[in-house]
Amino acid sequence: GKDKELIRDSWESLGKNKVPHGIVMFTRLFELDPALLNLFNYKTKCGVVPECLSSPEFLEHVTKVMVVIDAAVNNLDDLESLEEFLLNLGTKHQAVGVKTQSFAVVGEALLYMLQCSLGTGYTAALRQAWLNMYTIVVAAMTRGWAK
Ligand code: HEM
Repeated sequence: GKDKELIRDSWESLGKNKVPHGIVMFTRLFELDPALLNLFNYKTKCGVVPECLSSPEFLEHVTKVMVVIDAAVNNLDDLESLEEFLLNLGTKHQAVGVKTQSFAVVGEALLYMLQCSLGTGYTAALRQAWLNMYTIVVAAMTRGWAK
C-alpha cells in the first residue's frame, strides 16, 4: 500500500549512494551514543569519530548496514523471508557486545539521515512508514539476540 510506496520511492536514490548516506547515519549514531564506538574492536586504529568513519572497516560495516536496509526495502512484500538472516544477525551482534536498546538508537540515526536527505519529502507518513519497517527488522534481530 501507501507505506511501501513511500519507502520504495524514497530509497530509490538513497540506495544508489549507500556509503555517503550511511556515513551521515553513523555520524549521527556516534553523536547520540559515543560509547558505541568502543564496540568496534578495530576502533583502536582511530581516535576520533571522523577518523573512524573513514577507516575501511567502518565503511564496510556502514555498507553492511545499508545492504540490510536495502534487502528489507526490496522484500517489503515478504519481510518473513529475511527472518533467518535477521535472527542470525541479532545473535552475531549479541556476540560482539551490542545491546538491543542500541538498535533503537540506530533507528533514530536512520530517521535523521532520511530527514537530511529528503528535506520536505520527509513527512510524518514517511517517517512512520520507515519506522514500521525498521521495527520489524529490529524485532527479528532482537529475537536472535536473545536466543
Ligand atoms: C557486523 C557493530 C548495528 C549489520 C558487526 C560487527 C560489529 C558490529 C562490531 C562485527 C564486525 C564487522 O563485521 O564489522 C554494530 C554496532 C551497531 C550495529 C555497534 C549499533 C547498534 C547494526 C545494524 C545492522 C548491522 C542495525 C543492520 C540492520 C551488520 C552486518 C554485519 C555486522 C550485516 C556482518 C555480520 C556477519 O559477519 O555476517 N556489527 N552493529 N549492524 N553488522 Fe552491525
